[in-house]
Order: sequence, then structure tokens, then C-alpha cells
Amino acid sequence: MTPQSLKLDLNFAIFLNFLTESPVRKIVIAGNWKMFKTQAESLEFLQGFIPSLDETPSEREIVLCAPFTDLNTLSKNLHGSRVQLGAQNVHWEETGPYTGEISSPMLTEIGVRYVIIGHSERRQYFGETDETVNWRLKAAQRCNLTPILCVGETKQQRDDGEIESHITHQLKKGLAEIDQQNLVIAYEPIWAIGTGETCEAKEANRVISLIRTHLSHPSVPIQYGGSVKPNNIDEIMAQPEIDGVLVGGASLEATSFARIVNYQ
Ligand code: PGA
Repeated sequence: MTPQSLKLDLNFAIFLNFLTESPVRKIVIAGNWKMFKTQAESLEFLQGFIPSLDETPSEREIVLCAPFTDLNTLSKNLHGSRVQLGAQNVHWEETGPYTGEISSPMLTEIGVRYVIIGHSERRQYFGETDETVNWRLKAAQRCNLTPILCVGETKQQRDDGEIESHITHQLKKGLAEIDQQNLVIAYEPIWAIGTGETCEAKEANRVISLIRTHLSHPSVPIQYGGSVKPNNIDEIMAQPEIDGVLVGGASLEATSFARIVNYQ
């Protein structure tokens, strides 16, 4: 074998490996502050939280999804840190007579990179539908924001054996004509949100692997959300299909969110 053919063989082997290796999915740990924290409180949080990231493995993406009024202050104070900023909703138009709404360019101008869309609280209390979720996803992506699309079943739907049909429906409608290369999905069983009743890690893993079979892009990170706490994060993140978490209550306190991002 000549040195040249040996080199060709090696290149071919590397190429084959590239083709067969499973895609690397990003790990995204996001805090959802909901309607909590004034600007002053958000800065107080940062003081406690930022130093605890010194040892956090660099491949973990850390996101804080804060109320609109906190975003500008956080953006200025996060400069140079590895924490990314997220919003909790975005309108489907860029400007217009939509009292009370915020658009994608308004968010990206101040450094926001992620946006939660279709959270069950938006669906339940503010009339969000799969159709408006889809419009918001498109608007976010047009401005290069990464949407975190929330899906999940109620207790009743779970008891009636409708988990998969419900989530498949949400995905089909919500993801119509959406670029899956710039997307995060959060599986949030509604009965586990804010209740302290976590979905078993293995069960969350099972549903997330089902969700993955309905996606066209293999590298979409899929998070679990619903009563994630410092005492269950290690087990949740040990599951092979779970690529991160969306954390409500336990993200409000610096030490507890720090324990979550520094999961073992
Ligand atoms: P929780 O909320 O962690 O307080 O259950 C999760 C969410 O609503 O995203």
C-alpha cells in the first residue's frame, strides 16, 4: 500500500465515521422565571448565580427566561458571561397595533437569544392555540431567535392513554413549516408543573424518545420540564434522551438553580 492510498483510506474512514455517528445534541438548561422578579431582584440573583458557573462544563448552554422588564438590565449585566437571555413570549408580527405584545426585533435588539413559546400557562390562561404557537415560532426564527416550544399532556389525557396522540397533534400543528435546525422542544407534562409531582425520569425519557420520532431533524435538543429540583436533576439528566431541563420554581433562587446547572 502506498502512503497516498493509506491517506485516502484514512480520510474515507473518518468520513464513514461522520456519517454513522449519532448527532451531537446540545444540552440546554433554562430557567423560566414566569412573572417573578423585579429588575433589582434579578440583579441580586446574578450576584449569587454567576460565580457558581466557574466549574460548569462549557458544553452546557445556560439560559435565563426573564420577564420583559428585566431583559435589558440583565443583558447589560450578563455581558461577558456565558448565560444566554430568553423571553417568555413573542408576537408573530414585527410591529403593529397589538397592545401588550412584544416583537422579535425588540428582543434581539437587546441581546435576547431564546424565547419560550406555547407554555401551558399561555395556552391555559391566554388563549394560545397550536396555530398562534406556529405563527410565533416562525416570527422568532425569522429574527434568529431560538424558540423553546413547550408541549405536554394534562392528567386527564394521561389517564385516558392520550399522551402520544395529544403531543403528536401539538407537534404537527406547531411545527408546520418550521426550521428544526434552530429549535428546542420542552416536554412539560402539565400535571407536573409547579405541583412538586415530577414525572418519573424513565417515563420522561420514554415520552421524549417518542417526541423525537416525530421530528425531521436529529439534533433538536429536547428538554424535560415540571418540578425539576436540585434533588431530582441528576437522575433526570442521566437519561439518554433528555437534553436539558426547563425549570420554573427552582430557577428563582441562585443556589438551587446553580445546583441544577452543575448537575452530576
Ligand atoms: P416548575 O415549572 O419547575 O415550577 O414546575 C416548570 C415550567 O413551567 O416551565
